[in-house]
Amino acid sequence: MTTVASIREQDEAITVLTAYDAATAELVEAADIDVILVGDSLGNATLGYDSTLPVTMDDVARATDAVTRATDDTLVVTDLPFLSYGVETAQSLENAGRLLKESGAQAVKIESGPHTVDLTERLTQLGIPVMAHLGLTPQHVHGIGGYTRQGTTEERAAEIIDLAEAHQAAGAFSLVLEHVPREVGKAVTEAVEMPVIGIGAGPDTDGQVLVIDDAVGLSASVPPFAAAFGDVRTEMREAIEAYRDAVVSGSFPAEEHSHSEGLDL
Ligand code: KIV
Ligand code: NA
Repeated sequence: MTTVASIREQDEAITVLTAYDAATAELVEAADIDVILVGDSLGNATLGYDSTLPVTMDDVARATDAVTRATDDTLVVTDLPFLSYGVETAQSLENAGRLLKESGAQAVKIESGPHTVDLTERLTQLGIPVMAHLGLTPQHVHGIGGYTRQGTTEERAAEIIDLAEAHQAAGAFSLVLEHVPREVGKAVTEAVEMPVIGIGAGPDTDGQVLVIDDAVGLSASVPPFAAAFGDVRTEMREAIEAYRDAVVSGSFPAEEHSHSEGLDL
């Protein structure tokens, strides 16, 4: 059983994977992963978009519904998608609240910056735990000009550390830190008490997160900082081809897949 409280106390490295559907969530929970993130990466991973920008509240809510139905005791955190927060405070609170109230998530993740400190405090006060997200924030792809490494100068690294501290002070229960030099991963982890979950942030954070499609080897390509621990893509392709061949050759359905009632027709 993991909660926002238990992962703060956890000594062992915190393991986080994304999931967007029931079948995957069930497997992730069965493997004792601590946290399931219903990431807006579902836009790339399952909806065929080339960024996370088109992802809607309905997209993440539907995925969260599926994940929470399929799991019992894993902490489920859902991403607030692009422009579902930060435009109007009331709308931000309602959108975040919907993910807990209707979809059963226990917390939300927000791509963070100076503009999300107050929102983090407000949400936390209302009982909506917030996971902050600093370093590379993919919803800012157009402002950044690509999915590039962040915090690569001492000045920029110091900004990330300041923002991590500000979000902790605002009540964030943990932080995702993405695509930064490993020394930044280490420095941020040392600067704050809340657990820091790294992705492309080196080995010194309190935990790691990967997109499930990358982790199992389903993605066509993975970012340089991710790793595939399986080859589901090859497995699936071979199974699909084997099915096609079996149907075309007539070997499927075989005797054991067919049933006769002995009807005289
Ligand atoms: O959307 C996502 O999956 C994420 C993780 C990669 C941290 O934000
Ligand atoms: Na995300």
